[in-house]
Amino acid sequence: MRLLVLGGTVFLSKAVAVTALARGHDVTVVARGESGEPPEGARFVKADRDSPDGLSALAGEHFDAVVDVARLPGQVKSALDTLAATTGHWTFVSSCSAYADEATPGQTVETGVLRDPVPDDSLDPDIEKYGASKVTCENLVLAAKPGRAFVVRAGLIVGNGDPSYRFGHWPDRIAEGGEVLAPGAPDELVQYVDVRDLAEWILDAAESDTTGVYDGISLPMTRADFLTQIAEGLDVSPRFTWVDQEFLQEHGVKPWSGEQSLGLWLPLPEYAGFLSRDTSTAIAAGLRIRPLAETARDWYATLDERPVPNAEGSRYKALTREKEAEILAAWHARD
Ligand SMILES: NC(=O)c1ccc[n+]([C@@H]2O[C@H](COP(=O)([O-])OP(=O)(O)OC[C@H]3O[C@@H](n4cnc5c(N)ncnc54)[C@H](OP(=O)(O)O)[C@@H]3O)[C@@H](O)[C@H]2O)c1
Repeated sequence: MRLLVLGGTVFLSKAVAVTALARGHDVTVVARGESGEPPEGARFVKADRDSPDGLSALAGEHFDAVVDVARLPGQVKSALDTLAATTGHWTFVSSCSAYADEATPGQTVETGVLRDPVPDDSLDPDIEKYGASKVTCENLVLAAKPGRAFVVRAGLIVGNGDPSYRFGHWPDRIAEGGEVLAPGAPDELVQYVDVRDLAEWILDAAESDTTGVYDGISLPMTRADFLTQIAEGLDVSPRFTWVDQEFLQEHGVKPWSGEQSLGLWLPLPEYAGFLSRDTSTAIAAGLRIRPLAETARDWYATLDERPVPNAEGSRYKALTREKEAEILAAWHARD
């Protein structure tokens, strides 16, 4: 298969390219060359998609399948204008941020209401418009590639190469053992997808001409299972102390990401719909989620190769060990 990956130099899109090469496909990746290196064995086309004719070097080329991870409708529109007629299957990687309702648990692709789209030619990178921009991108792809589009609304993508630390904190912290602060309650739900599993599924879809719109994320699991399975993968037996949401908020712990944050923890009930999507149609369509123990073990194995968490200038930020100890002490000392 001749595969075009629009992206292909970092995290998910690179995993798609690497996996495709391992499966014996002929792979072209397109990027500006700013964020990372193309995988060995891929043809690299340097291009800036912010320019309307940025992909003109590829005009008229035939590809059996395309995978695009863009966030900006203007980039998606010009890619489709240039390539829709000469290409086959088209995967667009969208996001669960495309959904407008973050509060209702158990939503599906069918029941989830989308955000209002932005204009088709938008190149506005405002993070506040991320979800709405993805909606427009999806609409453009579905309109230009009828019957050939595979739209994957990814949830939290985790694993090696993750530029964020929303998942990474958990294996790193749990590996150290001892008393571990567990946020919220054991029966709260979380979900994620290993970058390798998402990449494999995207390629399976391209190879089998699977089409439609799906949420690309695991079924929800309880936070207790999430933490326990990570500990099993790392062969450690920490003691989890559950600290409730209000206490964490009062003590300055931030949800989701950033300094002094806990990943995969979001305020409830406002975000009760965010990590509880019913993704059974994706599982039925072939998304296979490897054991979390394996995802955690493989992440932890890269400890020496990645930025030091919470160090000055490190992009990996989460609750520090000092702050965790302070909060646990205060929790035990409460009335
Ligand atoms: N991470 C998550 O947890 C998560 C959750 C939900 C959905 N998603 C979605 O999953 C996908 C992740 O994709 P990814 O991991 O491959 O990361 P990404 O950051 O979306 O990758 C961007 C790729 O596109 C290239 N690129 C960016 N701007 C460009 C431009 N102007 N012209 C040409 N190429 C450009 C980048 O290389 P250069 O910078 O060198 O050009 C890079 O190869 C995205 O669609 C994201 O929205 C992610």
